[in-house]
Amino acid sequence: MIQPAITGHGVFTPSQVITNDELVAAFNAYADRWNDAHADAIAAGEIEAKAHSSTGFIVAASGIEQRYVLDKTGVLDPDVMHPWLRARSDEEPGQMAEMALDACQKALDMAGVSAADVDLVICAASNHERAYPAIAVEIQDLLGTGGFAFDMNVACSSATFGIQAAADMIRSGSVQRALVVNPEICSAHLEWRDRDCHFIFGDVCTAVLIERADLAKAAHFLIRSTRCATQFSNNIRNNNGFLRRTREGQMEDRRDMQFMQNGRKVFKEVLPLVSEHIASHMKDDGVASSDLRRLWLHQANKTMNDYIGKKVMGRTPAPEEQPNILQDYANTSSAGSIIAFSKYSDDMTDGDLGLICSFGAGYSVGSVIVERKTT
Ligand code: COA
Repeated sequence: MIQPAITGHGVFTPSQVITNDELVAAFNAYADRWNDAHADAIAAGEIEAKAHSSTGFIVAASGIEQRYVLDKTGVLDPDVMHPWLRARSDEEPGQMAEMALDACQKALDMAGVSAADVDLVICAASNHERAYPAIAVEIQDLLGTGGFAFDMNVACSSATFGIQAAADMIRSGSVQRALVVNPEICSAHLEWRDRDCHFIFGDVCTAVLIERADLAKAAHFLIRSTRCATQFSNNIRNNNGFLRRTREGQMEDRRDMQFMQNGRKVFKEVLPLVSEHIASHMKDDGVASSDLRRLWLHQANKTMNDYIGKKVMGRTPAPEEQPNILQDYANTSSAGSIIAFSKYSDDMTDGDLGLICSFGAGYSVGSVIVERKTT
């Protein structure tokens, strides 16, 4: 049977950082202005005043200390509260394609592969900047890859679902090399004026190159097995789409057109789903907890990751066994587990096993068991 392997990976990190203190100062200034503007209605008990956010809460509830974004000026302006992302002309590269080029080139360079030898690009992300032509086809064109390309969206699980799709195509022989790229511009679909979630997301792009293992030129990770699962839930939802226009033809400022979640429910319902998913995947692949050298988990919440890590390992994992990057990047949707993989995998030695797992809206959960090959 043909064996797929991850032979390259790369991360594009935006240059702008928002610390929790900067974020909270902007939010509180916005809340104060809003409360002043609605003082009469608040005093009459018709509406509730907006409460302040706090750095202490953000760190304690999530473990997030800062986030990278494409534009901080708009986000931190209390009169704007969203990133200023310039609408590009149809003749210019799109914002997602531009981030993707950087991450994909890093993955290609690591593997020593030229773009022309890639015959599949999957752009797997939780939001796409347009409906069509597919962002992936634009990336294919800009990079100069052959074959074909398509977009897919499984929210926070997009990367692992993309890896399974690419690995299966390599196994079947329909492609030889695939790029799975995750340009996540989460700042554009986050409601920065909502205290419950304004701290959650950041922007980033990750990419992995998957090849037939016999084509690998350097150290790589064999993809031993993959597993994907979904179960419908409304607890993480974004209604933005072509139904945004109202009957009167007006565009509405509707809260449900950005990321929304029932965070507590997600926390409670997703934990058992993910723990059981990983346990059954490992059992079917004949991998015991004691065989696992590393866990690269979805990066949404530190407490959640600590819980899953303990369940999977049967003990509290050492920090190097379950690296977290969410303190620096926040939740970057599908890219989070791949950032962790990309930054914390080079030290692994021949035969070491690791597991990538992402989870989120849908609900969806995807896991990939990899084995290090240095020879
Ligand atoms: N600053 C200060 N206080 C805040 C706050 C903020 N920014 N946001 C909420 N609070 C308050 C709430 O109003 C609430 O107050 P109350 O007890 O008086 O009602 C209290 O803090 C607790 O809020 P809650 O929303 O229950 O916090 P939490 O401990 O559940 O943490 C999340 C919130 C979102 C960090 C957490 O639920 C989570 O990470 N869930 C999983 C998310 C996830 O994985 N999503 C997938 C997305 S892809």
